[in-house]
Amino acid sequence: MTQPLLEVRGLGKRFRRAGSTVTALDGINLQLYPGETLALVGGSGSGKSTLARTILRLIEPDAGEIRFEGEDLLAKRGRDLRAMRSRLQMVFQDPHAAFNPRATVARAIEDPLRIHDVVPARDRPRRIAELLERVGLSSELATRNVHDISGGQRQRVAIARAIATHPRLIVLDEAVSALDVSVRAKVLDLLVTLQEQEGIAYLFVSHDLGVVKKIADRVAVLDHGRIVESATADDLIRNPQSDAAKALVAATPRLKYSPEREV
Ligand SMILES: Nc1ncnc2c1ncn2[C@@H]1O[C@H](COP(=O)(O)OP(=O)(O)OP(=O)(O)O)[C@@H](O)[C@H]1O
Ligand SMILES: [Mg+2]
Repeated sequence: MTQPLLEVRGLGKRFRRAGSTVTALDGINLQLYPGETLALVGGSGSGKSTLARTILRLIEPDAGEIRFEGEDLLAKRGRDLRAMRSRLQMVFQDPHAAFNPRATVARAIEDPLRIHDVVPARDRPRRIAELLERVGLSSELATRNVHDISGGQRQRVAIARAIATHPRLIVLDEAVSALDVSVRAKVLDLLVTLQEQEGIAYLFVSHDLGVVKKIADRVAVLDHGRIVESATADDLIRNPQSDAAKALVAATPRLKYSPEREV
């Protein structure tokens, strides 16, 4: 048996706010294998982003364990944590927030190459051009400001930046949710192609089962910080068991009438 790339055990997180406590994660267990896509779905406030951000070490959990490539991710500090970050990348919904507002496209992609020292300075322009090509963008875009290109182009730049360090896992939080339907389908195709070429695993957070059906091998359904159901995308859509999954299927009517239709 292959070892899981990512293994989460008993993960818990509570937020305290104005005298009350919200349990955002309540004993989460999951495993993700190399080259696989696990989708995390669930209603608003179910804990998807908290889980994604905890795995990325942007939020510290109160309880539980995260192992990445067999190592204790929560024990990593300093240089070890940085080294691990090059193999565990992220793409968020809003690349506006993720990019320095004054950055050019080239600069945005160069950052991880420099920070993780993957490519010597003199070779970086060529590597940036190569990465732009990989994500279907013209290298002429390199000198443009990241805020001066379309939303779909910006999300491709975010993907180029994420793959620059040859990660084994990319955590995507609603990464295609803000895109128009036709642009979204093309970005999903790009993600699938990159996965086939590089064997990257995706943890793909989404509230849209139509999108999940296109990209995910398995789906975990979150409700109030717990995984209440786990299935293949097809099984989940055809035969949802939990109330949370039933609500998601009901909220995506096009799935029922034309399951093969492109999203
Ligand atoms: N920094 C925070 N401080 C206090 N409460 C928080 C914080 N972040 C998240 N929460 C709460 O934790 C719960 C889970 O939130 P989370 O953002 O993980 O949900 P989500 O599934 O990503 O929702 P959405 O689909 O709306 O993005 C919610 O009740 C939310 O209000
Ligand atoms: Mg969220």
